[in-house]
Amino acid sequence: MRRSLLLALLCFCLFLVATPAHSGAKTGAISTDHPLASRAGVDVLARGGNAVDAAVAAALALGVVQPAGSGLGGGGFALVARKGEHHVLDFRETAPKAASREMFLKEGSSSTLGGLAVGTPAEAFGLVELHQRYGKLAWAKVVAPAQKLASSGFERGEHLAKGLLKNPQMSILFGEGNRRSGLAAALLSLAKDRGESFRRGWVAQDLVAAVQGAGGVLTMEDLASYKVEERVALQGVYDGYGVLTMPSPSSGGTVLLELLGATEGVTSVQCEVEAAKHAMARRALSAGDVAVGSNPIDPARIAAIRADCGAKTYASEHYGALVEPPRNAGTSHISVLDGQGLAVALTTTINTSFGSQVVGPKSGILLNNQMDDFTTRPGQPNAFGLVQSEANAIAPGKRPLSSMTPTILLDSAGEPFLVVGASGGPFIITSTYQVIRNILDHDMRAELATAAPRWHHQWMPDLVMLEANHPAQAMLVEAGHGIKEVAGLSSAQVVVRKDGTWQAAADPRKGGAGFLVGQ
Ligand code: GLY
Repeated sequence: MRRSLLLALLCFCLFLVATPAHSGAKTGAISTDHPLASRAGVDVLARGGNAVDAAVAAALALGVVQPAGSGLGGGGFALVARKGEHHVLDFRETAPKAASREMFLKEGSSSTLGGLAVGTPAEAFGLVELHQRYGKLAWAKVVAPAQKLASSGFERGEHLAKGLLKNPQMSILFGEGNRRSGLAAALLSLAKDRGESFRRGWVAQDLVAAVQGAGGVLTMEDLASYKVEERVALQGVYDGYGVLTMPSPSSGGTVLLELLGATEGVTSVQCEVEAAKHAMARRALSAGDVAVGSNPIDPARIAAIRADCGAKTYASEHYGALVEPPRNAGTSHISVLDGQGLAVALTTTINTSFGSQVVGPKSGILLNNQMDDFTTRPGQPNAFGLVQSEANAIAPGKRPLSSMTPTILLDSAGEPFLVVGASGGPFIITSTYQVIRNILDHDMRAELATAAPRWHHQWMPDLVMLEANHPAQAMLVEAGHGIKEVAGLSSAQVVVRKDGTWQAAADPRKGGAGFLVGQ
């Protein structure tokens, strides 16, 4: 009785501290693409956790309630910053040791569905290390909200419901009341042994058996030898603000910094699109895991891109055939800023919606199809319509090129004040760019900055993808662009602390939630 009274009191207090308000004395802000995941982050912030604890709790919760996009069967990138220091952790999936550059050239082999599509899953290792290095709250308390959601069940969100309509076979992930009892057991093990069960124990055995049973080559050795890598953030300056963003094996940071650099002070959407064509062409032609080819920022190149913008776009035949990118891609982005000035931008993914569709039968963990982010068949576009180069060819242990763009902006005092990133494959980069410009250059509040209609260009296919009612449509047609109207390009999450006010907004395209935490 006393216990339930205490629980009721705690729930009431959490309700009081998590508000969608915009100002006042706040101790944090979080935005994710599911309200229950944002709530999990608020929960740990209110218990004395820091931004890292909140981001990890939210990522684990997303894997339960929004499994089409991310989860323990995938991987991700985390960028952590406070005044005077910043860190990047790369826990991207790797090609298994038995993978080869020719593995998808065989007739009938799939890089999107089934066991061969699975890269070594590393989210558990990444989140454990993220918490170990920079978290504050006890690990078990950080895992607890996700564990509770998995064991008690939850209400399906609209995004998940829509995904299941397209993939009804993935209902196997859920029991009665949407309980996920296998996943609850895996999370309990994670809480107790900090990932040992995912490296050498029962979860690892479950995942390896599922992948091999579905024709894949993942082994226990791949999991046991996986290493989370510390990277050095790419750094730039935009409009006087410091920009920290993701280096290789993501292309996101490089493209973002090229876009920002080439368009600073420029208001023409035509010039923004031209810059995107240049930056995305370079991504296609030369970007890959650092082991093979790095992607440094080159000021001369940025100046050349800037100088190349004219009233008309260039001839496009050589850009290749039009390819339809899939909608509702996976991936999930979390932005958190706490009252002590610690910021976390965390993007995690199992790649396309519901990943490889291979599920660990005991753990209920849905495995990624991240192998499709490699250049699987030279010259042919991947699931996102991206054509990629030799630099991104498959090799054992290598990480596939990503577009994930966790990004943190620093004010003139070096304090993080804007945390942003997105989901949606290559749309991640252009969405992150547009949200930053909407806030800094167009003076939009976070909600409007994430909701405003967006454009996207990725060099190939050679057309501008535009959301409905985009104000630049006529001008882009006039400049000679092919236009394709699309809906729900991606989902961006942003938190901002600016001029004494806090804002947290989740993209309305995916039904997420941004919350502020205050006294
Ligand atoms: N799998 C999506 C990305 O990493 O870009």
